[in-house]
Amino acid sequence: MSPLHVTRTLPEDATDAALRADVRYGLTADPKTLPPKWFYDARGSDLFERITELPEYYPTRAEREILLARAGEIAAASGARTLIELGSGSSEKTRHLIDALTSLAAYVPVDVSESALTQAGRALIAERPGLEVHALIADFTAPLALPRTPGPRLVAFLGGTIGNLLPAERAEFLALVRSQLAPGDGLLLGTDLVKDEGVLVRAYDDAAGVTAAFNKNVLAVVNRELGADFEPDAFDHVARWDPEREWIEMRLRARTAQTVKVPALDLAVDFAAGEELRTEVSAKFRRDGIAAELAAAGLELTHWWTDAEDRFALSLSVLR
Ligand code: SAH
Ligand code: TRP
Repeated sequence: MSPLHVTRTLPEDATDAALRADVRYGLTADPKTLPPKWFYDARGSDLFERITELPEYYPTRAEREILLARAGEIAAASGARTLIELGSGSSEKTRHLIDALTSLAAYVPVDVSESALTQAGRALIAERPGLEVHALIADFTAPLALPRTPGPRLVAFLGGTIGNLLPAERAEFLALVRSQLAPGDGLLLGTDLVKDEGVLVRAYDDAAGVTAAFNKNVLAVVNRELGADFEPDAFDHVARWDPEREWIEMRLRARTAQTVKVPALDLAVDFAAGEELRTEVSAKFRRDGIAAELAAAGLELTHWWTDAEDRFALSLSVLR
């Protein structure tokens, strides 16, 4: 069995410096914000896996349905020998694609969550002994140090995670992806689609409160890493649909007026009663919009597949 290669391109102290800068910037901004990539420590990754199993959270099931139905077509259209997956998490759905990619030599999962990467990598190596797995602990919004593996390459970005980037960040991200592709390489992109507001809001505010716990986990990360004294139960989870921007906005609302200390930043942050901290957006898409964003980055959308209920889309684009 080939070993699991794990490369850390995020030095431990760079993570720390980035977290400090993000938290200082976000908690002193008006309105206050905290950036989403800090949700995914080991507990955050576990909570996200529980979200994917919730009855209200349809995106994972819808995307899996498309992957199961279309893996053969995707494999034939891409002919990939290297599959690079950004924000791979548990790599659970990706297995269907890996099974269909008969010429695949290497799988490169990229994630900031070391725990998710090593668990997923070990499981895959046990199941697919011939496959080379190079796990990359890295931030996908920065240029990647990709291993030397054979082309053509297929970059997969699943789960609708692209919707967690703001529009300007998305444009930058797609241009970065394109710059790392060669002619004939492809991008397989999972996008959640605009739909009924009630269905959307319930997917981000489930009855069992798992999404609320996930949202509040970012406070636990700041407490642990920066010695802050956020009281997670002093905040309520809020998920709201913004019909203008067509995105779900996740917030944490202070139940009472309170002051939070962040010793590592020498910062005291005042919250008014009812004040909201924005933690994450999850944008929803339409075909024309995403095709235009891809085209602006030099990528041509060649395939568009949806689930039977038109809730979620997978698109394939190629670099000409
Ligand atoms: N692709 C999986 C997981 C989606 S959750 C699925 O479809 O179920 C989003 C994943 O992206 C998490 O595993 C998280 O750790 C990772 N992630 C979020 N921001 C990231 C960043 N900037 N760089 C690398 N990984 C990131
Ligand atoms: N990529 C996922 C999504 O936008 C991430 C996610 C699901 C999420 N539920 C969440 C992020 C709740 C923050 C809070 O669907």
